[in-house]
Amino acid sequence: MAQRLAILGGDPVRSRAFTRWPVFDDRERAQLEDVLTSANWGGFPSPNRKAAELETRFAVMQGARFAIATTSGTSALEVALKALAVGPGDEVIVPAITFAATAYAPLACMARPIFADVDPATACISPTSVERLITRRTKAIIPVHYGASVADMDQLSALARDRGVPIVEDCAHVPGARWRDRGVGTFGALGCFSFQSSKPMTAGEGGMITTDNPDLEQRCQSLINCGRRRPTDSFETPLLGANYRMTEWQCGVLLAQMERMPEQMERKSRNAERLRGALARIPGLRAIARDPRLTREVIYAFIVLADEPVLKVSRNRFVRALRAEGIPCGVGNDPVYRSALLPAESAAYRTARELSGDRAFKTPDCPNAERMFEREMIAIPHEVLLGDDSDIDDVIAAMRKIAENATDLSSANLERASRAS
Ligand SMILES: Cc1ncc(COP(=O)(O)O)c(C=O)c1O
Repeated sequence: MAQRLAILGGDPVRSRAFTRWPVFDDRERAQLEDVLTSANWGGFPSPNRKAAELETRFAVMQGARFAIATTSGTSALEVALKALAVGPGDEVIVPAITFAATAYAPLACMARPIFADVDPATACISPTSVERLITRRTKAIIPVHYGASVADMDQLSALARDRGVPIVEDCAHVPGARWRDRGVGTFGALGCFSFQSSKPMTAGEGGMITTDNPDLEQRCQSLINCGRRRPTDSFETPLLGANYRMTEWQCGVLLAQMERMPEQMERKSRNAERLRGALARIPGLRAIARDPRLTREVIYAFIVLADEPVLKVSRNRFVRALRAEGIPCGVGNDPVYRSALLPAESAAYRTARELSGDRAFKTPDCPNAERMFEREMIAIPHEVLLGDDSDIDDVIAAMRKIAENATDLSSANLERASRAS
């Protein structure tokens, strides 16, 4: 007999918490103590002592020539575009499924974000959609490596080369990932990372830019340091920068977090395999597959796709029921062009549209992004995959339980059920 769903008053599959994020130990404590007693806390002079060490180690981890620490993933993207001299009247192609920061970056340069649809196999930007959107105004393409996937860097690199448009990779979700044994953030002209609280490596806030190009490195270092120039810098026109320097506290914490990354990446990837294998046997659910070219996988969000007609219940009800069973989950990012965080009537957005010769706001044509956000994506946060087999088996048991009771769930009055429980 099928068990009663927790959302309908039954016992939840899981009542214990999963791994608490962020993970820390005496390594973070020692780093913070070291910064405290040094009385050298800020980001100035730039890069400061721990910032320089973090930049060197991060560049090695990704296989980049240079890394530049900054205050956030958002500022990293803004600085990357400014280093490429993206400006008023320009266009920057971004994916429809991402956090608002990816589309904010062009607006911070008074350039207009242009939204490409996503590939349903990965939830990352579709190269075919990008190709259709390139115009003479396009000054950059920002693929986002979404969840645990990496955008198709083979096709995107070829396209960028053919059309002469630089790529800025948004690697906020996947520090450490490798595509064909090469670190993400080294395929484009620049790569941008985030160390915000939920990310796989965190100091609460923080960001990083990677590049192999010495000129871009100089420009980024100047842009994050109020426009200051180092005696060795060779770019001619001075830049208008801001204070986007990372504090020594954050750099210390990130040095400790980095030591734990190899083991965590490995463990999450192993758990993801177990989850994918089990999901293949639940009709109506399918995990996004790992691309064989993804030679090191980093998981930020494990994405499962619901097929509502097969599942016999809506994705939204499924997610509510899964939470009630004690499994943390969400529905991924909404199509960013209709995100509340990107108001079409804000002065910056209006100005960017006008400068690029487009006054009206037309809803972009992104059917995959719309469908995936509205009806398919179920996103499980990475810390759920930091545990052991029994944690993963609880996720599987909860999903199976809901799938087996989908007809009950579909017809239930959830408002009445939640009042009763
Ligand atoms: C894809 C993506 N890009 C950029 C950012 C911005 O990073 P931050 O929060 O560090 O500014 C985030 C997330 O928070 C993100 O998910």
